[in-house]
Amino acid sequence: MSDTTAIQEKITALTERLHYLNHQYYQQDISEVSDQEFDQLLADLQELEKQYPELALPNSPTQRVGGTITKQFPTALHKYPMLSLGNTYSEADLRDFDERVRRGLEGAEFAYVCEMKFDGVAMSLTYENGQLTQGVTRGDGTRGDVVTNNVRTIKNLPLHLRPAPNQPAEFEVRGEIFMPLGVFDDLNKEREQNGEALLANPRNAASGTLKLQDSALVAARRLRFFAYSFLSPGRGVFHTHSASLEALKAWGLPVSDTWRRCHSIEEVLDFIHHWEKKRFELPVATDGIVIKVDDFRQQEVLGFTSKSPRWAIAYKYPAEAARTRLNSIQYQVGRTGAVTPVAMLTPVPLAGTVVKRASVHNANQIAALDLRLGDLVFVEKGGEIIPKITGVDLSARPEDSQPIQYPTECPACGTPLIRPEGEAHFRCPNDTGCAPQLKAKLEHYVSRKALNIDGLGAETVGRFFDLGLVRTPADIYDLSTEKLTGLERLGEKSIQNLLNGVEASKQVPFDRVLFGLGIRYVGETVAEKLAAHYRSMDAILQASATDMAAVPEVGNVIAVNLAAWTQDESNRQIVERLRAAGVQLALTGEAPKAVSDRLAGLTFVLSGVFEQHSREELQQLIVQNGGKITGSISKKLSYLVAGDKMGPAKREKATELKVPIITETDLLAMIPTETQAEDEEEILAPQNLDSSAETASEQTFPAPKSTANDLGQQGSLF
Ligand code: IVH
Repeated sequence: MSDTTAIQEKITALTERLHYLNHQYYQQDISEVSDQEFDQLLADLQELEKQYPELALPNSPTQRVGGTITKQFPTALHKYPMLSLGNTYSEADLRDFDERVRRGLEGAEFAYVCEMKFDGVAMSLTYENGQLTQGVTRGDGTRGDVVTNNVRTIKNLPLHLRPAPNQPAEFEVRGEIFMPLGVFDDLNKEREQNGEALLANPRNAASGTLKLQDSALVAARRLRFFAYSFLSPGRGVFHTHSASLEALKAWGLPVSDTWRRCHSIEEVLDFIHHWEKKRFELPVATDGIVIKVDDFRQQEVLGFTSKSPRWAIAYKYPAEAARTRLNSIQYQVGRTGAVTPVAMLTPVPLAGTVVKRASVHNANQIAALDLRLGDLVFVEKGGEIIPKITGVDLSARPEDSQPIQYPTECPACGTPLIRPEGEAHFRCPNDTGCAPQLKAKLEHYVSRKALNIDGLGAETVGRFFDLGLVRTPADIYDLSTEKLTGLERLGEKSIQNLLNGVEASKQVPFDRVLFGLGIRYVGETVAEKLAAHYRSMDAILQASATDMAAVPEVGNVIAVNLAAWTQDESNRQIVERLRAAGVQLALTGEAPKAVSDRLAGLTFVLSGVFEQHSREELQQLIVQNGGKITGSISKKLSYLVAGDKMGPAKREKATELKVPIITETDLLAMIPTETQAEDEEEILAPQNLDSSAETASEQTFPAPKSTANDLGQQGSLF
């Protein structure tokens, strides 16, 4: 036997053993070996795969530890659209649903399957020949993000299935990815200690985790999966949903044992009542019950509305509520100056915690609820950390209850508050002098996703602000051993660590610096787009609002706001001081290569869902070929690229303004493929040919709006 064969056999044996132990542990609740032994086997396999990467098996259990980085998730079309469910909160609605099903099935016998409604993120998994090959998020229901590497880190999700005669060669499993409640609590405790913003609920935590680019971080978040649907052409050999659930479980997929087959709506209601309180004992957040007609053929008979199946419905439990007294309102000023009222309550127990504060959202909400100080109010916890006030017990309103006077001046700095048209929040406009705004901006600047300054967390920078040591991000770079020595709870080592962190932050790429500046509406994605487009702060400082609005994902509101920021003298000074300190104010590395200038001078609007590429990819292709993307349809627009499901308003407007409407395929045919572009470069340089005359595709398109005067050409496109 050759060495390679021996090693391959060893790798196969280890892989199979680990798959088996995983199955025993996660599907059967049996620990055959200690954690230590398991980790040792995994480490052995990792070592072998490192030495002989070509011998590693697909879906090796080592992939569960993560380690792949995905910059941008590709997207994929769903083979079967991912629909949502009709919701109801009332038993009467459920009885109506039952009546509709009964009528639809013309009196035939049928059964329901009742399942928990897990509160996480919907996921579509593809298995081919027993191997997990793809995991796609719901996205817009038609197309979702491909997050396979992140999904592979979910430990109770089998990477390969136990073979079975009734297992189709290819099928899809749909289910919910969730963060177990215990994991969620741990994570928030950790975030609190680090001074990071708390995650609102396990659902947001799970969806945020799935979008992480580094799968090793995903692995650390301990997500879990429950399967609830099986899909394959003709549904394989199964006639009922319940039989498919049993098969999924037998193949090794995690199916929660909570489901039950019910033969009448009365049994369904019993199931609902049974789980109303008991569901809190489950390790996963649930917000209701899903009721499905069991028989696949009967499901087909009932069919779908445009949004959801007629054979299923979700019953949602009412959120838990309590009644308590509203004692006062505090007004908090956030990073962007938004003033948020927070209700201070007489403490009351609610769904496992004691509630002392509740959010009221904004002034409109105070008026809408007719809230008064001293009122008895109802508070609800809808899976959120901070409960909200949902109503007033008017029958118990005390005679001396006080109307709430919403402040007209900033509670922190006294500046008169403004309320921009169309906005719900009052806002303090003093963004360069209002203490809580400045402090929150500093906290944002040092946070993990921005400059991520080691040794300088939100709490410390807040303390430095209170001590007058720092006021803007630029001041952080003036901190020194002399300035910091002698401060309480800050030893020599911490100071050194902090200053090293400040130094290291000078290497953080420009897009994160731009995000870190805390400009309103400039979140992570917008900052990335702006940085990629302008490549330097100088270019942004010189750009007009109109120019900025044309950058993908930017749009008018962001552009106007950003332009106001760049025109402000104090902001410009901060930028200059950051530059002097050596902070990255430009992207390093080369700008993405232009592929051709075929689309030079042309402007495009993309609308709808595209088949061959995601919208992002199409935008990139247009820009790489010299074209420009804009957001709105105007007379000057060259082309509207119409995808599936484009709204009728866009089509009408383009038709009215005589802007040619083209398809994705038309657009792709207008630009050279990569190999064409390379070939052309070689030919073009020495011979100076006019390439545009060569591509047949170009002549078959309607002339773009900017050059067309005979618009009759467009006729064929409508
Ligand atoms: S069945 C055609 N079953 O609820 C719809 N969905 O609006 C098929 N969900 O986000 C969905 N638990 O991810 C189904 N046992 C369950 C579920 C469930 C949670 C989620 C699902 C989707 C939403 C449906």
